[in-house]
Amino acid sequence: MPTALPAATSVNEPPLDPALLSQIESALADFLAAQDLPSNLRAACLHAVLAGGKRLRPILVLESALAAGGSVGDAMPAAIAIELVHAFSLVHDDLPALDNDTMRRGKPTCHVAFGEAMAILAGDCLLALAPVAAASAKHHAAEIQRELMSGTVRMIAGQVYDTLQGFPEGLPPARQVELVHHNKTGALLEASCRMGALAANAQHGALEGLTRFGKATGLMFQIVDDLIDATQTAEHAGKATGKDADLGKLTYPGIHGLEGSRAEIQRLRGEAESGLASLGSRGDRLRALLDFLATRTK
Ligand code: IPE
Ligand code: IPE
Ligand code: MG
Ligand code: MG
Ligand code: MG
Repeated sequence: MPTALPAATSVNEPPLDPALLSQIESALADFLAAQDLPSNLRAACLHAVLAGGKRLRPILVLESALAAGGSVGDAMPAAIAIELVHAFSLVHDDLPALDNDTMRRGKPTCHVAFGEAMAILAGDCLLALAPVAAASAKHHAAEIQRELMSGTVRMIAGQVYDTLQGFPEGLPPARQVELVHHNKTGALLEASCRMGALAANAQHGALEGLTRFGKATGLMFQIVDDLIDATQTAEHAGKATGKDADLGKLTYPGIHGLEGSRAEIQRLRGEAESGLASLGSRGDRLRALLDFLATRTK
């Protein structure tokens, strides 16, 4: 049974296990070091993957695996695979053709540091490496790869809705924004939880509970990101803020207001908690993580 997480020292400090975080950093660095890449492509990939980041998706994989009775070692291939997809998604999200951002994690974005052609290719490379990493999973490697790639397709569909529309005809704006967020961000968080459960060879009940947790947490995560964009400084967030409104993005604060968005976060937090019910005290570390994800400011 996993031990309790270290208590957060303030409401906005993540209650993340430092030992797990350092194992994730090492696994990512070791995996990239083992790839045969041109030096300039390697540098761009390292910049995209190793230059900071909260590592929430790999943490969700590992914590879901632990909650389902599995081990960190068995879940690490899935954990680094999802972070490689996430890093690719950020590199392409920041490109001039998409959000056109110059700062990410407090540093220059990949295309600012390495040029647009290299950022496109480094993103492609990280995407292609992700299923290679997942292939080393001990249990259910093929199912884990399927979750990873299906989640990635949903993320890309979400980015299309976010940037280029294409919604089903007649869909009201509140449903449009929900569709954007469930896909562009929710899909990878839900996949993280499911991949962790699969890596742990979980029973059907635990997989279902973690899926419900991941789906609600994933939508909630992007609503919080919208609130950060609307209310925080770039210096604090480590990325440009106040841009969603400028770019005319569909956001929860834009459709539901700040208070309506906060109410939706609380509703989804309850929904996520209900997914953990069947796990009993094994779900405690995910409950602590959910607390942080609902209240984070960067
Ligand atoms: C940012 O994700 C992109 C979204 C899906 C909102 P994170 O807030 O997890 O970014 P990092 O990895 O910690 O930088
Ligand atoms: C990003 O959403 C979702 C991705 C698939 C990367 P945002 O565009 O809101 O993410 P940030 O605010 O740039 O991190
Ligand atoms: Mg975007
Ligand atoms: Mg963006
Ligand atoms: Mg955002």
